Amino acid sequence: MLIHIDTANTSLILHCGARKRLHCLHYGPRLARRDDYSALMDKYNVPYGNMVAAERGDANLGLEDARLEFSTPGRGDYRECAAEFILGDGSRTTDFIFKSAEELLGKSAIPGLPSSIPEDGATTHVITLEDEAARLEVKLYYTAFYDSDVIARRTEYINNSGESIYLTRAMSAQIDLPVEGYDFITFTGAWGAERQFTRRACATGVLSSDSKLGLSSARANPFVMLSEPSADEGRGNVYAFNLVYSGNHAEIVEQSFCGTTRVLTGINPSGFCWKLSPGESFFTPEAVTAFSKNGFGGVSRAMHRFVREHIVRGEWQHKPRPVLVNNWEGTWMDFDEKKLLSIARVGAELGAELFVMDDGWFGKRDDDTKGLGDWTLNPKKLPHGLLGLCSKLKEMGLMFGLWVEPEMVNEDSDLFRAHPDWAVGIPSREAALGRNQRFLDLTRSEVREYVFNSMARVFSSCELSYVKWDCNRNFADEFTPSLPPDRQGEFAHRYYLGLYEILSRLVERFPHILFESCASGGNRFDLGMLCYMPQIWTSDNTDPLERVLIQEGTSYGYPLSTMGAHVSASPSMSALRRTGVETRFNVAAFGLLGYEMDLTELTQFDKKCIKAQIAWYKEHRELMQYGDLYSASLGNGKRIWAVVSRDGSEAAAMFFQREARCSKTRDMLIVPGLSPETEYHIVGREQFIQVGSFGSLVKHALPVKLSGDGAAMAMLSSRYMFPMCPEEYTAGGDMLMDFGLRLVQQFGGTGYNQDIRVLGDCGSRIYYLCAKHSNGAEDEA
Ligand code: DGJ
Repeated sequence: MLIHIDTANTSLILHCGARKRLHCLHYGPRLARRDDYSALMDKYNVPYGNMVAAERGDANLGLEDARLEFSTPGRGDYRECAAEFILGDGSRTTDFIFKSAEELLGKSAIPGLPSSIPEDGATTHVITLEDEAARLEVKLYYTAFYDSDVIARRTEYINNSGESIYLTRAMSAQIDLPVEGYDFITFTGAWGAERQFTRRACATGVLSSDSKLGLSSARANPFVMLSEPSADEGRGNVYAFNLVYSGNHAEIVEQSFCGTTRVLTGINPSGFCWKLSPGESFFTPEAVTAFSKNGFGGVSRAMHRFVREHIVRGEWQHKPRPVLVNNWEGTWMDFDEKKLLSIARVGAELGAELFVMDDGWFGKRDDDTKGLGDWTLNPKKLPHGLLGLCSKLKEMGLMFGLWVEPEMVNEDSDLFRAHPDWAVGIPSREAALGRNQRFLDLTRSEVREYVFNSMARVFSSCELSYVKWDCNRNFADEFTPSLPPDRQGEFAHRYYLGLYEILSRLVERFPHILFESCASGGNRFDLGMLCYMPQIWTSDNTDPLERVLIQEGTSYGYPLSTMGAHVSASPSMSALRRTGVETRFNVAAFGLLGYEMDLTELTQFDKKCIKAQIAWYKEHRELMQYGDLYSASLGNGKRIWAVVSRDGSEAAAMFFQREARCSKTRDMLIVPGLSPETEYHIVGREQFIQVGSFGSLVKHALPVKLSGDGAAMAMLSSRYMFPMCPEEYTAGGDMLMDFGLRLVQQFGGTGYNQDIRVLGDCGSRIYYLCAKHSNGAEDEA
């Protein structure tokens, strides 16, 4: 039996020969189809010294170095395995051999779980393996996404025996590669520091990245990569793996003593134990894998295409996302209708399209100790109801959006007083709180019904265009009275089956609403949530210096059209760092733009900048949200982010620097991903400099003498527009991609004139590039 699955640039080749185990012959660059694949097969000619043979009569059949497509412990494979069972008699050995293979048209849904939408005409290979002694079956599913070089895989575990068994590990996919010495790249972090690129060299043994927080988490995203050590942004062999799942997960890499590398991805085995009664199946979440010879950028763009076309769905899948104003960082929970409308009015004047009312509008929610669970409006804050607020916003030309946190309950709430047993906890222990709240037990149908009904009521109470769905704590005290003691290890996964059921009902009932997932910032940024909600709040940290790391880390696995990015006040809440409004915008423009501050406190200067920013973003929104992303490090804390249209006719590139340095005035603008034969016209976005940034040195820049911290300076600074030098260039795609154009000098300590760039610490500028035709005309944006 041989299966050869192709995508545009990759191949996966599986084989089962006389030894009856399913082997992975190849996963990587595309190979031609042929009759003879023996060159790729491992040869078994002699047993190792103390090796165990999996079968009598074949002393060479050791599993410990075989490239298996699925493996379990007990018969000589001592590596991390795809699955572990406790059988009816208590034994733990299983051994699965090939039974059958078929190719089916289309791709079936996974019961209870979200999954990718197949390409037209797609087929699914289903391979059945069997352990005859234990009477268990395993089905491996493979569907190729030709255009995006992705293969989706999942596993079904079937108990055909007459007794109950326990699955203590049920990974979604196992990939055995014939080479050692990879780098394992994970996206680790914390609240406010999500998805930081972390690169570790594999050595013999195990490396892993996992979440036990109950959410896919900011600690370790399920998106990971494996690369050859020399791989960089544009070059080298890189594999990428992700999971269509939002709960506990593990990505395990084991480099074996004999020079192979195994990758496993799936639900975290830690704390997991699923009882399979006779005749029952367990379905894993879907894993997705990609490979590229073109470095991290190549594999990322493959994943981006896949997420945009096959994960995100519904009315908003390809639609331009609105520029929003959110009141959270501006007011926290201290607001009323008047305050919200005053912020919204400024937002509307500046060009925003959607106003989002964040936490604090319901129940007795004046602080985070109370109110969660009571989804009734606070009449003191909103005397005219949601309807009243919504229609006033509509008069201003704004859509209306709302924050909810439906999975939670405060103990100080009417819901908790009526149903204390609906909150997750162990009856014999005092429940651990997180942000003063507890999870609702979504494994129970009556709780799910309450959540669905209360949300459906809120969502239909006015013309709602957007919902921000938050989740502000991690799991603890995992237990549900709805399951017997030997099934408590199912809680965390059953929670997600419950959540996904609610979400699928809500998005079906409210197809016009744009949902944005959120979890204390970006604590649940994953493909599972993206199947229901087209965008996710990337992080509560909106400081541009840190956002560069967070957004760049996130962008390895997820496209810009999924990443909420807001401009907030300076100094930033997360670092108390002062930065200019232009650089805050430039970073947020590489994502789904919003403004999250009290806009009534803006200076004239800020207002003028923001009005121009929103106009620029709207003009280039298609490119910024749906273009292909490239990035390049220039060293010394300087980097480039670029989005390029699919046809290469336009691009936008940001030059960003961590800090300004004396005498270091020369910079390059490199723009990867362009079309090499095309000539481009390049214009620096019109940006403004705050006079105050010169302090009393302003006399060198303007014909005025002012004290740096005087009232006159403050007045001038808040009103006067001081333009950044105009920049315009012409350059060929070939120059820009590989070498870069030389920008005009930036301020470097020796005087100022109107032709230098003034960037400062954390400074940046966006350049817009447009293809020129041979007659000199430019493409229309
Ligand atoms: C956490 C989110 O990340 C914030 O944006 C905000 O919505 C708060 N929760 C509200 O409680």
